[in-house]
Amino acid sequence: MCKSGEVSFKQNADDVPVRVSVVISVLAWLALLPLISLELELELELDSMAMQRAQDGSCLHALVFVYSLCWVCSVGFVVGQTGQLSVDASSQNARKIPDKMFGIFFEEINHAGAGGLWAELVSNRGFEAGGPNTPSNIDPWVIIGNESSIIVGTDRTSCFERNPVALRMEVLCGSKGTDACPSGGVGVYNPGYWGMNIERRKVYKVTLHIRSSDAVSLSVSLTSSDGLRKLASHTITGSKKQFAKWTKIEFHLKSSQNNTNSRLQLTTSRSGVIWLDQVSVMPFDTYMGHGFRKDLASMLANLKPQFLKFPGGNYAMGNYLRNAFQWSETVGSWEERPGHFNDVWGYWTDDGLGFFEFLQLAEDLGASPVWVVNDGASQNEEVSTATIASLVKDVVDGIEFARGGPNTTWGSVRAAMGHPEPFKLDYVSIGNQECWMLYYRGNYQKFYSAIKAAYPGINVISSCDKSTISPSNPADLYDVHVYASSSDMFSRTSMFDNTPRSGPKVCSNAILRWLYLICMLRISTPRNDFGSSMARQAIVSEYAVTGDDAGKGTLVAALAEAAFLVGLEKNSDVVEMASCAPLFVNDNDRRWSPDAIVFNSWQNYGCPNYWMLHFFKDSSGAMLHPSSVQISNYDQLVASAITWQSSQDKSSHLKIKVVNFGSKAVDLNISVSGLENGIKSSGSKKTVLTSSGALDENSFQQPQKVAPVSSPIDNAMQQMGVSLGPYSLTSFDLLLEPSKLHSTM
Ligand code: AHR
Repeated sequence: MCKSGEVSFKQNADDVPVRVSVVISVLAWLALLPLISLELELELELDSMAMQRAQDGSCLHALVFVYSLCWVCSVGFVVGQTGQLSVDASSQNARKIPDKMFGIFFEEINHAGAGGLWAELVSNRGFEAGGPNTPSNIDPWVIIGNESSIIVGTDRTSCFERNPVALRMEVLCGSKGTDACPSGGVGVYNPGYWGMNIERRKVYKVTLHIRSSDAVSLSVSLTSSDGLRKLASHTITGSKKQFAKWTKIEFHLKSSQNNTNSRLQLTTSRSGVIWLDQVSVMPFDTYMGHGFRKDLASMLANLKPQFLKFPGGNYAMGNYLRNAFQWSETVGSWEERPGHFNDVWGYWTDDGLGFFEFLQLAEDLGASPVWVVNDGASQNEEVSTATIASLVKDVVDGIEFARGGPNTTWGSVRAAMGHPEPFKLDYVSIGNQECWMLYYRGNYQKFYSAIKAAYPGINVISSCDKSTISPSNPADLYDVHVYASSSDMFSRTSMFDNTPRSGPKVCSNAILRWLYLICMLRISTPRNDFGSSMARQAIVSEYAVTGDDAGKGTLVAALAEAAFLVGLEKNSDVVEMASCAPLFVNDNDRRWSPDAIVFNSWQNYGCPNYWMLHFFKDSSGAMLHPSSVQISNYDQLVASAITWQSSQDKSSHLKIKVVNFGSKAVDLNISVSGLENGIKSSGSKKTVLTSSGALDENSFQQPQKVAPVSSPIDNAMQQMGVSLGPYSLTSFDLLLEPSKLHSTM
């Protein structure tokens, strides 16, 4: 649970002058007291010396005035700071931020996908989660009835080769007589992932596979959590002959009621043996009709992510290789996917959200997929370079699945799944974060060479840092993961300030430029030409504030991350992409805190850092302008400025973001120079993310406690005095006159 109450951070350097000024003003008033009493005495006793008194009095009044001024000034220091923010908005000093600067990183952690973004309501739909040996446990399926009426177990009689386990129900009771089944019948129910959210008038597609020793009368119902209230129901009936072999049944259920904690029941009052397998309930209403939970996918879309990195994280590796994400086991018809145990984060996944669905999600979000491949390493094992060849081939096959034409071996599988057009997979990350492992570099080179040979246009991402990248260890991008306390994260706003600016982007050498042009002509995709061996750019694919002050997602953590992102914007000549981690948590299975989006079966809310990301959603592809903050004795402010153009109405904006990571209010004079087009007199706005406590969090009860609040700016001008609250992120969005702004925008 989050801690509540006051934040106690280390004393900031800025506290010292404030205290000094308070002490000075108190001393000043003490010194003044005798003079005030002297004035009173003069008034009482020296009537005859009226003129003299008047002069003395005016001296004393002047003194009082001066002291009062000192006091006012010192009070000013206590409640706030005054600073200056200069922005050079000229086009000649602007630099374009990479088009894919801000994206998202999805990991199957915290039931982010299974029981989360993937809308499937049945958990363990193929009865495989108990393992391949039978009889196995069928969790979370539960038996309805007792041993005298039903015997439930598993056997390996499924019609699906790769997931052989099926449920076997031997019904001992019947429809009447002394062996009559209890009212409502016997069978099994599935509560989904901590209760299914069933909504009134919504339609659900039910699919299941049945085999039976006798005629079938099976009731399939969505009910309340105790099974007593039916929301929707359908009875499957058929002769013994009809169900002698495995038969796929599909139908729709329309709910008559709302219930956020429902279950799926399969019950019968007819004796005999029934086998069930691959039981699914999918809501019809999913994001773009592609199976993603609409509310959660919309939250992602609202961030305008420019890339989607998946599927992990440690999830991509597994604790053991046998439990790693293997892309080829997650494609094809959902019924034929074996599913696997996510041993890193401790739960089973049916792999409904497989490789195809990740690519589809990226496409639906307008984001570039970034595939993290298993490079032969788990948390506990490593494949040696001598034996890595089959895994390398597997990855090249995976790229063919995504990018190959519909007539290629793997492209045809994708086409059969309904996507004949190739997906735009341009980024592949070799492994997660295992540069330190014995075989990483040897294996990496095998992957790199094979991928480049088959797909020269793919950007290959290394887990090793920039210093290790060389012509013998080439990479297009190098991956950086940053987990830190909030104060540490705040200080990392300058993390890339001293990164060497080498490579063609900043090289002015004419010969190199000439070589570069030649390579551009020879290789079709410029991104992988000359300089690809030098990993010019970083992808900061995982960053997060962790530890005590991160809680389950605090304001102060979000502000620290905002400052870090401001630093990345300013260093976006050497940082090309960034995404926070983790993205999602199902509140019923919190394996990692904090996370950007919290949900359960029917609710969701964004943590402060989710809202913070909204301040950066216009940055990708925008123009960055030099900006600097001048403020005495207060090192808690960072700021950046961009100009960007709306793709919808083509309006142009100057966006100035300021993070105040300290406990002082700040009066800031903003001075913008070099604007080619003026600021419009109306249409500008200010958006603030703050709260009364630095450790404040959102919750299901108060989902918007820490959320951005916007208000119009009436006096938007190139010189503006603005106020920044303590612990705040403020964005000044200044609407510009219609412009010829920047040709690159
Ligand atoms: O984001 C959670 C975990 O942190 C990721 O799985 C891993 O890559 C990192 O260490």
